[in-house]
Amino acid sequence: MGFSSYARVLTLLYIYAMTMIASGRAQTFKCNTNEATCNGLVGYVSPNRTTLDDIKNLFGIKNLRSLLGANNLPLSTLSNYTVHANDTLDIAFPCLCKNGTGMPRHRLPIYTVVPDDGLYHIAAEVFKGLVTYPQIQKVNNISDANLIKVGQELWIPLPCSCDELNGDKVVHYGHVVEPGSSLEKIAQRYNTTEDTLRTLNSIEPNTELMAGVVVDVPLKACTSMVSNNSLDYPLLVANGTYAFTAGNCVKCTCDAANNWTLQCEPSQVNSSLWTICPSMQCEGAENLYIGNSSSSGCNRTTCTYGGYNNQTIFKTLALESTCSGPNNNAPNSLRGWRWSYLLISIHLVVLYLHFIK
Ligand SMILES: *[C@@H]1O[C@H](CO)[C@@H](O)[C@H](O)[C@H]1NC(C)=O
Ligand SMILES: *[C@@H]1O[C@H](CO)[C@@H](O)[C@H](O)[C@H]1NC(C)=O
Ligand SMILES: *[C@@H]1O[C@H](CO)[C@@H](O)[C@H](O)[C@H]1NC(C)=O
Ligand SMILES: *[C@@H]1O[C@H](CO)[C@@H](O)[C@H](O)[C@H]1NC(C)=O
Ligand SMILES: *[C@@H]1O[C@H](CO)[C@@H](O)[C@H](O)[C@H]1NC(C)=O
Ligand SMILES: *[C@@H]1O[C@H](CO)[C@@H](O)[C@H](O)[C@H]1NC(C)=O
Ligand SMILES: *[C@@H]1O[C@H](CO)[C@@H](O)[C@H](O)[C@H]1NC(C)=O
Ligand SMILES: *[C@@H]1O[C@H](CO)[C@@H](O)[C@H](O)[C@H]1NC(C)=O
Ligand SMILES: *[C@@H]1O[C@H](CO)[C@@H](O)[C@H](O)[C@H]1NC(C)=O
Ligand SMILES: *[C@@H]1O[C@H](CO)[C@@H](O)[C@H](O)[C@H]1NC(C)=O
Ligand SMILES: *[C@@H]1O[C@H](CO)[C@@H](O)[C@H](O)[C@H]1NC(C)=O
Ligand SMILES: *[C@@H]1O[C@H](CO)[C@@H](O)[C@H](O)[C@H]1NC(C)=O
Repeated sequence: MGFSSYARVLTLLYIYAMTMIASGRAQTFKCNTNEATCNGLVGYVSPNRTTLDDIKNLFGIKNLRSLLGANNLPLSTLSNYTVHANDTLDIAFPCLCKNGTGMPRHRLPIYTVVPDDGLYHIAAEVFKGLVTYPQIQKVNNISDANLIKVGQELWIPLPCSCDELNGDKVVHYGHVVEPGSSLEKIAQRYNTTEDTLRTLNSIEPNTELMAGVVVDVPLKACTSMVSNNSLDYPLLVANGTYAFTAGNCVKCTCDAANNWTLQCEPSQVNSSLWTICPSMQCEGAENLYIGNSSSSGCNRTTCTYGGYNNQTIFKTLALESTCSGPNNNAPNSLRGWRWSYLLISIHLVVLYLHFIK
C-alpha cells in the first residue's frame, strides 16, 4: 500500500471513529425474531452516473425486475436506464434474523477488491454508508483492516430486520442520513415519529444524527392473506412498490390507495422454481384466478394469493357483501368489505397437516 492510500486510510479511520462516537451505536439493525425471514429494503444513493445494470450487479441482484419493483419503475424499463449521481435507488433483498441482528439471507452482495481499495472506501463510498467497514471486516474474518488483497471477495452485510413494530408488520428501510437532515425530517418524510426512530435505532435523547449513518425507518406494509406456513411469509411490500414471489409466478403490488391491501396477480413471467407455474385458479370458483373477482347481486367473490411452498400456490376465496356496511356507495374500492367467510383452499389445509406431521 502506497503512502497516499495509507494516509487516506488513517484519515478515514479518524473520520469513522468520530462518526461512531457521535452516533454512539453500531450500525446494524436489531432483529430479535430469531430465524425469521422477510424482505429487506435499503436506499442506495448512487455515487456516480451509472446504469440500473451496474447497480444490479453491484448488489448481486438476480433479476432486474426486483430492482424495478422496489423502485416502482415500469417492467419495460431497459437495463441500460441511466441512474444519475445522488439518485436514490431502493434495493430489495431477502433478510434473515440471527443472533439479534438482521443479515442478508444469502451471502450477497459480494464485492471484489480492486487495486487501491480500502475497506472504508468500500463501505462509505462504494456502498454509500449502508454498511460500516468494521461490519465488513467482522463478517469476512479480516483481522487487519489494512490488509485486503486485490481480487479478494468480500460479503457486504446490508442492514435489515424482520421485527414487528408494536404488533404491526413493517418493512425496515435502511436510510442513509443526508447532510443537513434530522430525525424530525426523516420521521416526517416517512410518516413515522421521532420517538419511534429513536427507540428502533437506540438513539439517545438529545443526540443529533450524523450524516452518512444508516437508520432503520419502519415503512407500513400492505396486509396480505399469505399464511404463516408459506415460504414467503410474511410477504412485506411497502407502499408504491411491487414484488415478485412464488418463484416469480405471482406479482404483488402495494398501493396505500387500496386500503393498504396487497394486490396479487399471475405475473406471466417464467418461474425460477417450476418448469411451469402451479395452478393459480381458485378451487370452487369458475374462472377465478388470483387477483380476479366476480359479483352476483350484493356478493362479491375474490380469489386472493395465499402463499406458496415447493409444490403449490395457495389460494383463498373471500366472499364479501357490498350491500352492508356504511360505505356501500363505493363499490369499486375495498370500502365496506365484510369478510363474511373465508375459504382456505383444500390444498392449504392438506399441506399444513403435512407440515406438522
Ligand atoms: C439502451 O439500449 C437500447 C437497445 O438495447 C438502445 O436502443 C438505447 O439507446 C440504449 N439507451 C441508452 C440510454 O443507452
Ligand atoms: C451529490 O451530493 C453531494 C452532497 O450530498 C454533493 O456534494 C455533490 O455535488 C452531489 N453531486 C451531484 C452530481 O449532484
Ligand atoms: C451473537 O451475539 C453476541 C453478542 O452480540 C456475540 O458475542 C456472539 O459472538 C454472537 N454469535 C455469533 C454466532 O455471531
Ligand atoms: C465515481 O467515478 C469516479 C470517476 O469516474 C471514480 O474515480 C470513482 O471511483 C467512482 N466512485 C465510485 C464510488 O465508484
Ligand atoms: C469466520 O470464522 C468463523 C469461526 O472462526 C467461521 O465460522 C466463519 O465461517 C468464518 N467466516 C468466513 C467468511 O470465513
Ligand atoms: C401517517 O401515520 C398516521 C399514524 O400512523 C396515520 O394516521 C396517517 O394516516 C398516516 N398518513 C399517511 C399519509 O399515511
Ligand atoms: C400460524 O397461523 C395459525 C392460524 O392462522 C395459527 O394458529 C398458528 O399459531 C400460526 N403459527 C405461527 C408459528 O405463528
Ligand atoms: C403511497 O405511494 C404513492 C406513490 O408511490 C404516494 O403518492 C402516496 O402518497 C403514498 N401514500 C402513503 C400513505 O404513503
Ligand atoms: C421463458 O420460457 C420460454 C420457454 O420455456 C422461453 O422461450 C423464453 O425465452 C423464456 N423467457 C424468458 C424471459 O426467460
Ligand atoms: C350472497 O351470499 C349469501 C351467503 O353469504 C347467500 O345466502 C346469498 O344467496 C348470496 N346472494 C347472491 C345474490 O348470490
Ligand atoms: C423446497 O425445495 C428446496 C430445493 O429444492 C429445498 O431446499 C427446500 O428445503 C424445500 N422446502 C420445503 C418446505 O420443502
Ligand atoms: C381496510 O382494511 C381493513 C383490514 O385490512 C379493514 O378492517 C377496514 O375495514 C378497511 N377499511 C375500509 C375503509 O374499507
